[in-house]
Amino acid sequence: MTVLFADVVHSMDIAAAVGAERLREIMAELVNRASSVVQGYGGTVDKFTGDGIMAVFGAPVALEDHAFRACLAALGIQEEAKRLAVDVRERDGVELQLRVGLNSGQVIAGEIGSGALGYTAIGEQVGMAQRMESVAPPGGVMLSESTARLVEHATLLEEAEKLDIKGSDAPVVARCLLGVAPQRERIGSWREPLVGRELEVSTITGLLDRSMSGRGCVVCVAGPAGIGKTRLVGEAVQLAKSRDVEVFSTFCESHATDIALRVVTRLWRAAAGVMGLDDENARARVRERVPDADEQDLLLVDDLLGIADPEVSLPRIDPDARRRRLTALVNAALLARTRPALYVIEDAHWIDAVSESMLADFFTVIPQTPSMVVITYRPEYEGTLTRIHGAQTIALAPLSDPESSALVAKLLGPDSSVGEVGEAIVARAAGNPFFAQEMIRDLAERGVLQGTIGSYVCHTDVAEVSVPATLHAAIGARIDRLGTGAKKTINAAAVIGLRFTATLLTGLEVDSVLDELTKAELIDQVRFTPRAEYAFRHPLIRAVAYESQLKSDRAQLHRRLAAAIEVGDPQSADENAALIAEHLETAGDLHAAYRWHMRAAEWLRPRDALAARARWESARCAADRLPDDHTAVLDMRLAPRTMLISTSFYVGDDVDIDGLYGELRDLTMQTGDLRSLALAMAGRIQWFADHHTRVPEAATLATDLEEMATGIDCDAATKSILLNAVAMARFVNCEFEAALQVIDEIAALTEVPAVEIALARAIRGSVEICLGDYELGRRHLQESVEQGHALPPVVSAQILFFSSAMVVLGMSQADDLVDDVHEALRRAEEFGDSSGIMAAQYSYGITLLCAEGGSPDDALDVLQRLRTDVEKHKMFKLAAATLDAVLEIDAARKGKLDEAIDVLRASFALHMSSGSRVFVGCPGEALVGLLIERGSTDDLVEAHRIVDQWPTQRLNIPALDLWWLKSRALLAEAEGNSDYYTSWPTSTSGCAKGSTPAADFPRRGEW
Ligand SMILES: Nc1ncnc2c1ncn2[C@@H]1O[C@H](COP(=O)(O)OP(=O)(O)OP(=O)(O)O)[C@@H](O)[C@H]1O
Ligand SMILES: [Mg+2]
Repeated sequence: MTVLFADVVHSMDIAAAVGAERLREIMAELVNRASSVVQGYGGTVDKFTGDGIMAVFGAPVALEDHAFRACLAALGIQEEAKRLAVDVRERDGVELQLRVGLNSGQVIAGEIGSGALGYTAIGEQVGMAQRMESVAPPGGVMLSESTARLVEHATLLEEAEKLDIKGSDAPVVARCLLGVAPQRERIGSWREPLVGRELEVSTITGLLDRSMSGRGCVVCVAGPAGIGKTRLVGEAVQLAKSRDVEVFSTFCESHATDIALRVVTRLWRAAAGVMGLDDENARARVRERVPDADEQDLLLVDDLLGIADPEVSLPRIDPDARRRRLTALVNAALLARTRPALYVIEDAHWIDAVSESMLADFFTVIPQTPSMVVITYRPEYEGTLTRIHGAQTIALAPLSDPESSALVAKLLGPDSSVGEVGEAIVARAAGNPFFAQEMIRDLAERGVLQGTIGSYVCHTDVAEVSVPATLHAAIGARIDRLGTGAKKTINAAAVIGLRFTATLLTGLEVDSVLDELTKAELIDQVRFTPRAEYAFRHPLIRAVAYESQLKSDRAQLHRRLAAAIEVGDPQSADENAALIAEHLETAGDLHAAYRWHMRAAEWLRPRDALAARARWESARCAADRLPDDHTAVLDMRLAPRTMLISTSFYVGDDVDIDGLYGELRDLTMQTGDLRSLALAMAGRIQWFADHHTRVPEAATLATDLEEMATGIDCDAATKSILLNAVAMARFVNCEFEAALQVIDEIAALTEVPAVEIALARAIRGSVEICLGDYELGRRHLQESVEQGHALPPVVSAQILFFSSAMVVLGMSQADDLVDDVHEALRRAEEFGDSSGIMAAQYSYGITLLCAEGGSPDDALDVLQRLRTDVEKHKMFKLAAATLDAVLEIDAARKGKLDEAIDVLRASFALHMSSGSRVFVGCPGEALVGLLIERGSTDDLVEAHRIVDQWPTQRLNIPALDLWWLKSRALLAEAEGNSDYYTSWPTSTSGCAKGSTPAADFPRRGEW
């Protein structure tokens, strides 16, 4: 055990200066703070000594690394004392300082007396600790020889001093504790000085200084394996630390590329300062850091950092909104930070997609902060992080020959016998410093080189020496030379990853031989508390250790590891599901892998839509690889496909949903699972309806589904989903009567979910208006909007889309919707997916553009952004036609008449041929209007052609003819043909049920 003594320097003087009362107050505060530090490191406060405390580490609970923990506590106590001293100096004008002494050894411990702590340690050792305290410098920590020996590998110590101490005849050895050895958060220790790289180091220094002054930047360090990226980052880290810049690091791993969120979680855990804290304290720390944050946002952060309170459920927020809010919160925290920071992301070539895109979002604010980001990757990486706006890239080339020679000379030493072998190494290494190092290690292990690093001799004739042909071979040779136990250990560790704990190794049923690996400099111990953690010295060592194993041995390790991860942390099983699935998949246990993939997808579903889809995709692949004779394999193949198709809405048209759908169809034919097929068809129809150019396919599929739906035995909820999809297809394809029939079927069902009722009513209202029944239609739309208030934000936004679509068609008024669209946009932004936001933006923009007293500029702005998003995300394309009309009229007003006509011409043609013709009139009318405005002979001919062609293409739906009638009238007016012009109002007989829309509503040209 280790005993800690802390005492206030010259406490009598302080008492004299401030009075006994105040001294007691100061002492109470100090003891409180010190005690919590001690407890934080697992120690026990043994007693208060009047002007200090005594604490014990290693008892009553046995702690293996008691000495190291005691050192950490001693440093922590000194820090607290220094903080308190600032207050005391200000208030009382006296200097508060502490001395701390530590001693380790056998202490006879037992229940002596019945003090509050019920525990007292006695023995000679306690006395030694006290003596160490007495010789410590004020503000310092003194270690006895025994303690120093236990911690010298992990701490920074002053040279040993021999001190005369009261009560001891001979002088006693003591060492002053300076700090904890820089924890190698990452692999790659280097004792050899840096060779070359002057330009790179000075670039990074310059960028760091500029960043610190408030103009932050992102720096990419690229280059092949072993070239020195991590080494250069190490220089940057040293520089940063010497300038008091805080450093936060994370790294990516080859086996975790498919595990969503892993890298970003790790980085923010470091930045939030929650490493090493238990969940409760971690949550408290986060709240300290961002004191004004919204409570729901904080719950999202807890969840991201993996420190959530299991008793508190995740707020009901859609994944997109979750991501937006997290981004906003982290960005705000980054911007609010005044202390400079360096963020390091190592080995981005292995980053997972979700982390990658989240980090890219976060890095957009870096230029406005005093922070620098350094990202390293190998040249094969071409992802988003290589394209961050304004980032600087440092591409590391091989060392030059003189530099390589200098490096090798430093490693080998000055003896003339190594000259020739050195040349051979330089030639083979081709400027790769890691290769040079590994060759030298290999030769040393083989006995060709004798001595130690920096002072080798060589007695072998170089002609007889073989040097490894490649870096891999050099590392492989070194691993081969290990004893059986060490080899088994390194193999198992390689399966775990770059970093591993001894506990996990034990879980793999491996008797760890870590010493030999550390000595051979293949691995390093990177953490001592709370549990020992190790890391491969270099990613390539892990890669070689991994690849050199027999596949079957490796598979077995992967299988055991999956079990060990599950058993080791059952509470985090959902969070670890993706990792477990990956290991099982590599082990070839497809059945189990499938289950874990599906479980991971469920966990990811409310967190990140794309990440969840990636898991279903993995589950699909696993199921497809299973042999056909496997029972229930068809169901396994079906389930992830169903999920992929029904969530395809989130991915625009980037993926091959058509192929997937065809496969699903075949599968359901084999299993007879018509319900799954019908639901997938409904999803497919919605998707087609949303993608303007595929409306005809929506219509065809709707016919199939309608036929099928009658034959399926399913509940009202499912049935209403199916029928609503059919109704939507009918609506966008202008089959209005058919749409009403389907909606009547929904109305006839009982126990239909509110969502489906509201959607059906919104479609009904729109259809009725299109048919000319304005009053009834508007009433139904109004009812659906009211119902929408109580429904999820995405649904209420969808419902409002129908109302505002009627506004843009000139068939309904905007004024009543103003309050609703504001609220819908707010809710969608706070809680909803992108699709919901897009629908809400649409309604908001259209409504504020058309409403009395609206704000057209703001509205056009929102619609402009929306159009860009529609293009970018390939979602909500149904809105494209009307957006084109509105925005191009505006563009023409602002002088871009020619461009506007070109866009509208294309848009009109597209929607006429394959899109939703409900909306085709909008670009049509806008186009005719602008052609007339430009007014060349060709323009008028074109306008005529458009207007004249309509009667052959019209759908015989009076409401849809309005645009044509208006266009025709405009044309007539322009040409002074009053007959033509005056004939139009009478032909709107279809609108007789309501008021005449043309009289009620502004013509779009008047916006
Ligand atoms: N300029 C240099 N001078 C001295 N030693 C160097 C230099 N560059 C790299 N090294 C040493 O070479 C080894 C490999 O370098 P490092 O780990 O930085 O490679 P890396 O580019 O990060 O490779 P990887 O892509 O595999 O991570 C390290 O031990 C490092 O200390
Ligand atoms: Mg590296």
